[in-house]
Amino acid sequence: MRIGVVNGPKLNLLGEREPEHYGHRTLAEIEAMLRTRAERRSIELEFMQSNDEGAIIAWLQEHAPGVDGWLVNAAILTHSSEALRDALLAAAHPFVELHLSNVFAREPFRHRSVLAEHAVGVIVGFRENSYLLALDALADYLERR
Ligand code: DQA
Repeated sequence: MRIGVVNGPKLNLLGEREPEHYGHRTLAEIEAMLRTRAERRSIELEFMQSNDEGAIIAWLQEHAPGVDGWLVNAAILTHSSEALRDALLAAAHPFVELHLSNVFAREPFRHRSVLAEHAVGVIVGFRENSYLLALDALADYLERR
């Protein structure tokens, strides 16, 4: 099983950016945690972060043939990017949407996701553990379908 992990704008700043919402782990630390968990389950990961919507869409298109599903923390793009939504539909694999923070306990504009209705499920609010929970949830889903 191979899973692509997509990280949207500003997640490169994790560790220093608004730790009250996002915790203290850097994205590199989260990637390492996720790779350890994935290895235990014999899952291969393709991991990316970009601040550029177009680069994320291009990456999804490029990697779609080689993966079975996606973990998506689209960050701010979650709330408005119809372009990313179309790209995920075109990439045609099951995906889990995840967020470090509990977006429903924050500003109203974060309560809306243009991706969620197409996701297998959504995990929010568990800081870096959201990634691990999302990996397990997606892997279980892919194994059972
Ligand atoms: C986020 C939540 C988004 O609303 C925000 O724009 C982010 C991070 C999260 O992981 O909690 O950049 O996706």
